[in-house]
Amino acid sequence: MAVPRTKLERSMSGQSTFLSNMSLPVHGWYRFPAGFSAKWARSVIDKHRESTDRLALLDPFAGVGTTVLSGEDAGVKAYGVEAQPFIQKIAAAKLLWHTDTVAFRDAAQAVVGQASGRSPRRYLYPKLIHGCFGEEALSDLNNLRHTWEEMDDGGPVAKLTWLALVGILRSCSSAGTAPWQYVLPSKTKSKVLAPYDAFNLQVRKMLADMTLWQMTDVRCDANIFLDDARLLNTIADDSVGLVITSPPYANNYDYGDATRLEMSFFGEVTGWGDLHEKARKHLIRSCSQHASIEKLDLNRLLDELVGTTLVGEISSVCDALAEQRLYHGGKKDYHLMVAAYFADMRKAWRSLRRVCASGARACFVVGDSAPYGVYVPTDRWLGELALDAGFRDYSFEKIRDRNVKWKNRKHDVPLKEGFLWVQG
Ligand SMILES: C[S@@+](CC[C@H](N)C(=O)[O-])C[C@H]1O[C@@H](n2cnc3c(N)ncnc32)[C@H](O)[C@@H]1O
Repeated sequence: MAVPRTKLERSMSGQSTFLSNMSLPVHGWYRFPAGFSAKWARSVIDKHRESTDRLALLDPFAGVGTTVLSGEDAGVKAYGVEAQPFIQKIAAAKLLWHTDTVAFRDAAQAVVGQASGRSPRRYLYPKLIHGCFGEEALSDLNNLRHTWEEMDDGGPVAKLTWLALVGILRSCSSAGTAPWQYVLPSKTKSKVLAPYDAFNLQVRKMLADMTLWQMTDVRCDANIFLDDARLLNTIADDSVGLVITSPPYANNYDYGDATRLEMSFFGEVTGWGDLHEKARKHLIRSCSQHASIEKLDLNRLLDELVGTTLVGEISSVCDALAEQRLYHGGKKDYHLMVAAYFADMRKAWRSLRRVCASGARACFVVGDSAPYGVYVPTDRWLGELALDAGFRDYSFEKIRDRNVKWKNRKHDVPLKEGFLWVQG
């Protein structure tokens, strides 16, 4: 059964990106281009409010917490699950907006006071960091970081102060950022902020947002867990009435890499190997690097899809990708990526079935892809996997065409993005 479209949902194509969140309280504390619009999430919550009367709202691919914060704002019990540890830490810190503002202000001022009194130190950072920051900026950032580390007691104030520092790194970097989040040290920016100015500004913005939200505080249960959407160990059976989410797409975007600048600055990673161990290996396998590093076996992956109506179709697409690979210089393992992606998403739907109460609704923002020009009908295949997991029906609502304009696109297969609605 098709789910009716509302005016707000129809207008989402104009505001579907995270950029519109940057001017919203709390949402804008960290720029995460892979996120979706908080206003849109709120419109879906409002429209399906009866689904959350007794049950929770869940985002199993929570990112920086857009759905959960929108749920809190709407007074709904809201949970998120995020498997990339650094992204989960950012999201969880945003949920601390109700912390005492005076305590946060004093701590942030103390960090600035002590950091600016430290003499410039020798420091050892990965090459990426030296490529992204000028000497002076890095010295200031380094002093802020070490002062923060000395005051870190693991409490909410320390977490908010950490987030303030995380939130300014890109604006203090002279390096450009590719569409979405990859850092490009060779591409320089004209507008670069000085670390202390940026930090003070960020803290002031956070304090203003916290004060605003605390004035209308409708406290409800909200949390973002470090967990895996394929398992949902932190979510109780039959406890969810509404799911709003956007999973990784099978389009080779690497969420392990999305926070490489920030993780490198805080000493959490030093190189590519680290990035896989610390971040990527926990995630849905949606990029070819992931499939290659794990040396996956196609037949084993297809075995994981046995019993679904899709195994033949997925297998044909993977065969076509394995053939195309031979004609392309990069020889990317898209055939393994696609099989692994749908095997993973089958697990995610099964876990969702367990935690969703009967009659629950899910809205997935999804996009299809065409690696090496071979079309992967992600929306339909995800819908079929939802039925395979025991949901009753699905429908797809297109919100925009993709890959129809760019002159230098890699292939000319028309693509789309939209809402996959699932019920049952
Ligand atoms: C499209 S982004 C979601 C963005 C989110 N809607 C927001 O506004 O911030 C997909 C997210 O799924 C996360 N992810 C990937 N694999 C996961 C898994 N197995 N379990 C939970 N989260 C996962 C990624 O790290 C990424 O943050």
